[in-house]
Amino acid sequence: MNHTHETSVTQRKTSTGPLRSDALVFFGASGDLAYKKIFPALQGMVKRGTLTMPIIGVAKSGWGIEQLRARARASITEYGGGVDESAFGKLLQLLQYIDGDYQDLSTYTQLRKALGSAARPAHYLAIPPSVFQTVTEGIQKSGCASNARVILEKPFGRDLASAQALNGTLRAVFPESRIFRIDHYLGKEAVENLLFFRFANTFLEPIWNRNYVQSVQITMAEKFGVAGRGKMYDELGAIRDVVQNHLLQVIAFLAMEPPTMMYHESLRDEQVKVFRMIPPLEPADLVRGQFRGYTREPGVAPDSQVETFAAVRLCVDSWRWADVPFLIRAGKCLPVTATEVLVKLKKPPLSKLTSADNAFRFRLGPELAISLRARVKRPGPEMVSMPADLSVVKKTTSDEMDAYERLLTDAINGDPMLFVRQDAVEAAWTIVDPILGNATPLHLYEQGTWGPKEADGMAADVEGWHNPDIGV
Ligand code: BG6
Repeated sequence: MNHTHETSVTQRKTSTGPLRSDALVFFGASGDLAYKKIFPALQGMVKRGTLTMPIIGVAKSGWGIEQLRARARASITEYGGGVDESAFGKLLQLLQYIDGDYQDLSTYTQLRKALGSAARPAHYLAIPPSVFQTVTEGIQKSGCASNARVILEKPFGRDLASAQALNGTLRAVFPESRIFRIDHYLGKEAVENLLFFRFANTFLEPIWNRNYVQSVQITMAEKFGVAGRGKMYDELGAIRDVVQNHLLQVIAFLAMEPPTMMYHESLRDEQVKVFRMIPPLEPADLVRGQFRGYTREPGVAPDSQVETFAAVRLCVDSWRWADVPFLIRAGKCLPVTATEVLVKLKKPPLSKLTSADNAFRFRLGPELAISLRARVKRPGPEMVSMPADLSVVKKTTSDEMDAYERLLTDAINGDPMLFVRQDAVEAAWTIVDPILGNATPLHLYEQGTWGPKEADGMAADVEGWHNPDIGV
């Protein structure tokens, strides 16, 4: 890719932008999220010079600072691409630890003390939603909330009503402009690239609509199962875990109108407009599956009816997209780990020459790839065509910013563009609310297959589901 002329989709930085946070607090310092994502992101930020402020971990684990340091090292070794001794050394100098019960006000008074002269802390709630209220109240009562930001993770509630209640809890302490809701898909290069591919290329816009696009489908396939997260997953299921958030966000990027460059909230406004144009789903729009053996996973109820696979068909009821089917399929224990978008174009006439499978394919993970499936003449005496892929594949490089590093850096800088606004959270819940729980039957599927065969019918009129392969 040519980086000579760089443009941004919306204006990200202004000289009079918000003030940077001056301390980073993370609750849940001994937990899974910190281990898998936060410590690696912190090392990356220190290495890039974007994190020079005090970092305070809070947890109730009976630990001291030495245990936290050891945990940070283990985390970065396992998930952060290895310890960079120079950056890690700096990280340790910045790192403090408070061991305390979230119910106990003295935990927060210790925190206030540890913050010292910091006047604009960012509090990252890497903790279960069940303790959000207690922790935000503690932050407020101890005086740690003034001029502070709060960062939290999906799921933002379990349905529309609980998402609104959760928001009420947060808004009692923080204004919307200081709440940063992470959907890590928005921090992924490959997802952001959808915007660039769409809006930085003149050739695409004239065809990116119902006149040329036959269908859009997204498959998020994961080869692994619930990977030790049985208890948590069993409270969610695939729709709450990845459809309501990550995959609807991908749909928003694919379907939105061009954001204007004129004001900061433009991208988030366009996102929420897409969600509002998707009619709430009905049970007939959904096929749910569960991989065989799921109920024997540790932490999973033996009679669980929770789905580990969901296939959904929706429409975006706008002038641009009317009548174009949008399909989403997500599942655990599928044959490969790959997330891919396929945008199929309508067939041209002269079907003898073409047999037509013009399509754009966007690989969103594990690597970034874009390809345009075109047709060319098959060499030889016959007048027949064959497929040809024009593709760009970008292998991940070791210095690439991971989504968490990207988003934490933005949150500390006070840049909200890639965070989910509450109106978008609510609009996305409105879409899936009617299909949550046992609204439809649950079909068992074998591990290592593409889910229950009942899902096939959903894609029958668009020539079936496209299964991503692993060699792109
Ligand atoms: C998380 C889900 O939000 O996203 C997991 O809770 C899922 O179940 C994960 O595996 C996928 O993220 P990524 O970045 O690996 O595609």
